[in-house]
Amino acid sequence: VKTLKDVDLRGKRVFIRADLNVPQDETGRIVDDTRIRASIPTIEYCLQQGAAVMVTSHLGRPKEGACTPEDSLAPIAERLSELLGRPVPLIEHWVDGGFTVQPGEAVLLENVRCNVGEKKNDEELARKYAALCDVYVNDAFGTAHRAEASTVGIARFAPVACAGLLMAAEIEALSRALEHPKRPLVAIVGGAKVSTKLTILKSLAEKVDQLIVGGGIANTFLLATGKRIGKSLAEPELVVEAQAIMDMMAARGSEVPLPVDVVVADEVSALARANRVSVDEVGPNDRILDVGPKTAARYCDIVAHAGTVVWNGPLGVFEYDQFAGGTKMLASAIAHSEAYSLAGGGDTIAAIKKFGVEKDIDYISTGGGAFLEFLEGKKLPAIAALEARYDG
Ligand code: 3PG
Repeated sequence: VKTLKDVDLRGKRVFIRADLNVPQDETGRIVDDTRIRASIPTIEYCLQQGAAVMVTSHLGRPKEGACTPEDSLAPIAERLSELLGRPVPLIEHWVDGGFTVQPGEAVLLENVRCNVGEKKNDEELARKYAALCDVYVNDAFGTAHRAEASTVGIARFAPVACAGLLMAAEIEALSRALEHPKRPLVAIVGGAKVSTKLTILKSLAEKVDQLIVGGGIANTFLLATGKRIGKSLAEPELVVEAQAIMDMMAARGSEVPLPVDVVVADEVSALARANRVSVDEVGPNDRILDVGPKTAARYCDIVAHAGTVVWNGPLGVFEYDQFAGGTKMLASAIAHSEAYSLAGGGDTIAAIKKFGVEKDIDYISTGGGAFLEFLEGKKLPAIAALEARYDG
C-alpha cells in the first residue's frame, strides 16, 4: 500500500482515521492511552509537513444518530492535546464541513460512529468524508477488520488514500512474522477456549514450525489425548478439532508439546491454594490453572531456538500470582530470545505489562480483533481498500 511518506502533504487537508478506542473507567477517565500514544507519530508527521490535520476515531459502540455525552471523544481530545503539546479542539458536527483548520494545526472530529451510515459503510457518507480532504490516511489498524465508511468507503473516494505510520508498521511487523518469517516460526496460542481461536489454530498449523497451546485450549488438547483434567475449563465437544490440529502439525513433522506437569487448585481465586502435579495426577476436583515448571522450561527451550515467535494468549490464570509462573517464564523467554517476536491481544498485553517485558518484545500490536483476524489469515477490509487504490 501507499504510505504517508509517499505523499506530498504541504498545505493539504489531511483526514486521519485513527483508532483511539481506549478503555475508560466509569467516570470516563482513560485507563490505558497506548493507542493514543501510538497514533502520535502520524499526526506529528503531518503537522511537521505543514498539513491541516483532521483526526477522527470511533469510541465504543454508540447508537448511530443518538450519541450521548459518554460517547464523546472529549477526554481523548484532552489527552491528545497533552501528548502533542498543543491544543487539539474537538469539532462536534463536522460531516458537512463548516469548520476550518489551518495548515500546521490539528482538530479532532467527534466520534465517527455517531454518524448515521458509518457502520454499514454508507456510500453517501463516505463521499462526504472524502469531500473534506485532499488526503485520506488510515492509521487505524485496530479497526482494520471493520468495513465502515471511515475505514473502507472513504478510501475509494478521497483524492489520495494511504496508510499512516502505525498502520504501515503493523502491516510490516505482521507480514514479517507470518509471511516471510525467519524460521523456525513458533506460535503460542493461549487463552480460555479452542472455539474462539479455532480458525487461528488451523491457519497457524499450516504455517508454523512449532505450535504451543496454553490455558483452557491446552486442556481440550489434553482431553483429546485421553488425559484426565478433573474440573478444568475445556470444550469436550472440540476434542476432534484439537486432534485434527495435532495431526496437521504431525504431518509437518512437528508434535504439539502438551503439558507434562501442571499447577492445580480447587477454585480460581486470589486465595486458592496451588499444587504442582504431574499431568497424570490431576484429581477429579482439580482445575488446571497453569503449566508446571518442567512444561514451562520445555516451551522456553523451543522459544530460545526460534527464529520468529508469535504470541497470543496466556498459559495460565496469570492475574493471580500462584498461577502466573508459566506465563511469566514464557514472557521472559520471549524477551530474552534472539527471535523476532510479535505479540498481541488484550490478555497478552496485560501479561507483558505485568511482567515488565514491553521493551523486549520486538512488536506489540495495537489490534485486538484485527490482530486475531490477521492471525486467522484473513485479508482485513481496510487494508484491502487501500491496496485496491494502487493495484497496478
Ligand atoms: C477494538 O477495540 O478492537 C477496535 O477498536 C474495534 O472496535 P469494535 O470491536 O467496536 O469494532
